[in-house]
Amino acid sequence: MSTLKIFVGTMYGGALDVAEQVKPLFEEAGYDVSILEQPTLDDLIDSPTDLALFCVSTTGSGDYPGNFVPFAREIDERHPALTELRYGLIALGDSSYGETYCGAGRSLDALLEEHGAQRLGERLEVDAMETFMADDAAIPWVEAWIEEQGLRKG
Ligand SMILES: Cc1cc2nc3c(=O)[nH]c(=O)nc-3n(C[C@H](O)[C@H](O)[C@H](O)COP(=O)(O)O)c2cc1C
Repeated sequence: MSTLKIFVGTMYGGALDVAEQVKPLFEEAGYDVSILEQPTLDDLIDSPTDLALFCVSTTGSGDYPGNFVPFAREIDERHPALTELRYGLIALGDSSYGETYCGAGRSLDALLEEHGAQRLGERLEVDAMETFMADDAAIPWVEAWIEEQGLRKG
């Protein structure tokens, strides 16, 4: 069975909630889905996944949430080749923060690309100023992502 790992970076649980809400959509599309709440680089390197989805909010001034810092730091330190990695990215943020809007998601996207990973489709940015429940934006986006990228199995 094809595997999908959802890598979560969250402070208050919104990004985790998104991961849990979209999980059944991928299961219906034929994936064995796991949600990683304390992701590490070994989750990509030691046991590669067919597809990855990153659900990452921003804290501080465009910073990664604490639970996601080790993952990003390990990429910086170990410089892995991520050329086999195909991923989608859902960034949670708040446009009232101005220039650092969705800063963590944007940094992560650049970091993954720099290491050879291939993003499928565009990044989704969910603005807390406009969308109270991030799931409301994430669910239709994932439904469209699965179809537009031809990700359905069987
Ligand atoms: C202390 C703090 C700092 C934040 N800094 C930013 C920021 O720099 N840029 C941004 O886009 N959003 C920022 N946010 C907004 C959060 O990213 C947004 O509320 C998000 O939905 C939280 O998701 P979570 O529940 O997964 O942590 C900040 C929120 C808090 C409470």
